[in-house]
Amino acid sequence: MFKKLALSATLALAVGTTGAYAAGASDAHVEDFAFSFEGPFGKYDQNQLQRGLQIYTEVCAACHGLKYVPLRTLSDEGGPHLPEDQVRAYAAQNFEVFDAELDDFRPARPVDHFPENNGAGAPDLSMMAKARAGFHGPYGTGINQLFKGMGGAEYIASLLSGYTGKEKEEAGTTLYENTAFPGGWISMGPPLEDGLVEFADGHSNDLHHMSEDIAAFLMWTAEPKMMARKQAGLTAVMFLTLLSVLLYLTNKRLWAPHKKKAKSA
Ligand code: HEC
Repeated sequence: MFKKLALSATLALAVGTTGAYAAGASDAHVEDFAFSFEGPFGKYDQNQLQRGLQIYTEVCAACHGLKYVPLRTLSDEGGPHLPEDQVRAYAAQNFEVFDAELDDFRPARPVDHFPENNGAGAPDLSMMAKARAGFHGPYGTGINQLFKGMGGAEYIASLLSGYTGKEKEEAGTTLYENTAFPGGWISMGPPLEDGLVEFADGHSNDLHHMSEDIAAFLMWTAEPKMMARKQAGLTAVMFLTLLSVLLYLTNKRLWAPHKKKAKSA
């Protein structure tokens, strides 16, 4: 009886998963990238965030804003961790903000946020990695997110490296086929290609690596305090474990005299 039950359960599971994979194949495909910040001890890779910032500045900023991100956070420990004078220079060189007091534009300062950018009809990227954390896995169950740590960063990296090269015109706009974008056609042309951005440290700049770097950077913009959150979570788990042990021992001790009596009776 039990054997039979187990067998049918396994069978159901097998059928379920193959069915789900078949359904997933025709839908968006998100690759599992190995990011440094995954797992309970994961951390952002400072050099990777700096490369991501460079890619954002040289490529994505032309169309996308990051309006919720204060420029000064670029010097935060656990983030890109740039020296403060570099952040000042970076802000002034790359962005202009409107100053109501001057009634004019002026070079950005660390206290300002990255500017917004609505020109190309491209969405703001500040929170994109969290907005697209999504429910990856068979039937949008979130299984892949739970077990493989797949989330918004994987989606963004898959999106950027998921262009097939096919294009079509629809109502006057060009759409590009993309294996990660829900629906399969996106109006953003492929923003990255092999070798597009040169890194000062000569780090590999093929499409795959650059997609990973910018995705990590956008994960940081969406969740700059991820490390602090993980640490707090870990402390809580350790504390609760200790508390459980103490409670167990106390409980044993409380009942010990009564147990002895029961035995002798
Ligand atoms: C030439 C302008 C342009 C550039 C450059 C550009 N994008 Fe986009 N991007 C767009 C537009 C337009 C959309 C909206 C596409 C749509 O919804 O069909 C978009 C959408 C997106 C989305 C959201 C996809 C979704 O799930 O809705 C992400 C993520 C994104 N871009 C990332 C980037 C990154 C990272 C870069 C730099 C490497 C970049 N883009 C460069 C125009 C641009």
